[in-house]
Amino acid sequence: GELEPFNNFPPSDFTIKEERDAFPESMSKIRKDFGQRYPLYIGGQEIITDDTLDSYNPADPSEIIGTVCQAGVAEVDKAVAVAKDAYLDWRNVEPRERAQYLLKAAQYCKDNINDLSAMQVLEVGKQWDQAQGDVAEAIDFLEYYAREMIRLGDPKRMGNSPGEYSQYFYQGKGVAAVIAPWNFPLAISVGMVSAAIVSGCSVVYKPAGISSAVGYGLVEMFKAAGLPDGVFNYTPGRGSVMGDHLVDHPDVSVIAFTGSMEVGLRIQERAAKVHPGQQHCKKVIAEMGGKNGIIIDDDADLDEAVLGVLYAAFGFQGQKCSACSRVIVVDSIYDRFTHRLKEAAESVKLGPAEDPSNYMGPVVDKAACQNVLNYCKIAEEEGKVLVKREAPLEYREKSGCYTPMLIVEGITRDHRIAQEEVFGPVLSVMRAKDFKEAIDIANSTRFALTGAVYSRSPKHLDLATREFRVGNLYLNKPSVGALVERHAFGGFKMSGVGSKAGGPDYLLQFMDPRLVCENT
Ligand code: NAD
Ligand code: ALA
Repeated sequence: GELEPFNNFPPSDFTIKEERDAFPESMSKIRKDFGQRYPLYIGGQEIITDDTLDSYNPADPSEIIGTVCQAGVAEVDKAVAVAKDAYLDWRNVEPRERAQYLLKAAQYCKDNINDLSAMQVLEVGKQWDQAQGDVAEAIDFLEYYAREMIRLGDPKRMGNSPGEYSQYFYQGKGVAAVIAPWNFPLAISVGMVSAAIVSGCSVVYKPAGISSAVGYGLVEMFKAAGLPDGVFNYTPGRGSVMGDHLVDHPDVSVIAFTGSMEVGLRIQERAAKVHPGQQHCKKVIAEMGGKNGIIIDDDADLDEAVLGVLYAAFGFQGQKCSACSRVIVVDSIYDRFTHRLKEAAESVKLGPAEDPSNYMGPVVDKAACQNVLNYCKIAEEEGKVLVKREAPLEYREKSGCYTPMLIVEGITRDHRIAQEEVFGPVLSVMRAKDFKEAIDIANSTRFALTGAVYSRSPKHLDLATREFRVGNLYLNKPSVGALVERHAFGGFKMSGVGSKAGGPDYLLQFMDPRLVCENT
């Protein structure tokens, strides 16, 4: 039968007692399996490697989530060969049938949403509601792209010239390498992988090392969906060991990447080179970083603006490409806003995400912690501290990856802290003489991912709509939390190339259009 129209999947409501009580049960349940070994999954076979990487809980690094087998060059070669072979059959499977596998995978995620979210709380330190939001987004990608492929799947008649029948249709490009970040560890992986699969590509998927146990969830969901062997292959591995090899491989046709600007630019450069045996130009989709600003206008609703900025800057410890790292405040409201922001920032609790009363927890690992601490130093040298808070000593003593929650003021557009992506809980406050100057400041970085404006003035909201040039602009709401379809997501400038994830052009990037014209 016909599918229901797409709707965003509602995550659990933790204000309801049963839903709140069910969540710690899932955490206890998955904890019982901690320490297990995660194999690679290539051509439907589990593969064990000598090289392994331990994934740990950032709130307590002595807690090992799992030991993850690491693909090297030989395993990448095997996975690409298997995927190349699987592609030859998969591209001929009817689009509607391909879509069914995504719908089955979505059902698996719905049935296991608490376990899948609990894993994120413990492996990357995501707060309960945000972990649930991530799994709900994964479900949305599966449901939305299934419908999108059904929409695009029927051949379209072109023109109506008598004596000729012309049809336009799509085929999957080939083997897609999907290279994912750790910060939306299920949603972004599932988004890129499911788009490739439903478009008729086969996939070699490399999760980020830090979130490879969450990444293993894709193996489970596609097994549960009954996807033919070889269409999806899971090859976690070190970027420094196998990343270039995967990108350079002559049999990879598409590279779907989400991550930092540095790695994204490196991939684009390498993918342009043609290697012996290569038969196609590689397509690169690269979603990269941000330096997102929120503008506070002189007539902003401060109750909403303060909460919105706090959440956008410090939710999941500021580790979102969409996070607010600059708040740009119009001079006449500056003192009132910063006073309220300071009060709010000083009122929230810091500690592990496992305890839902904590607003902000540790960053994702020891390397991230060091990187953020370096930027805290730069921020304190360039500006003046407005808020600096540490998590309680009892948590830091466990060697948890805690950094301060830091807000600095007196930042101007030429400071490093106003230009470089920190990817952590560091917020710069910038003063603008008026709304127009606030927009100039907001646009003054090489990134163009998200932005937000708090204002009651229709004229100013119009001006922002035209002149605040980012991929996703939010008016009177925070810069984070995009929903599939409603807030199709992605930026431009140095924030990336490719069309919006969860939007109507996304699948086209994984397919080659063909036209067949018959003289009748
Ligand atoms: P990262 O660039 O360090 O890593 C991303 C992936 O690339 C990982 O799987 C990593 O192992 C892999 N990699 C590393 N070196 C490689 C190489 N030489 N060749 C191929 N792959 C390689 O990013 P991260 O730390 O995982 O994620 C944080 C970054 O991601 C931030 O910059 C953030 O803004 C960005 N991000 C962007 C979006 C978006 O939609 N625009 C969404 C989420 C995250
Ligand atoms: N899609 C994620 C958000 O909007 C990055 O926060």
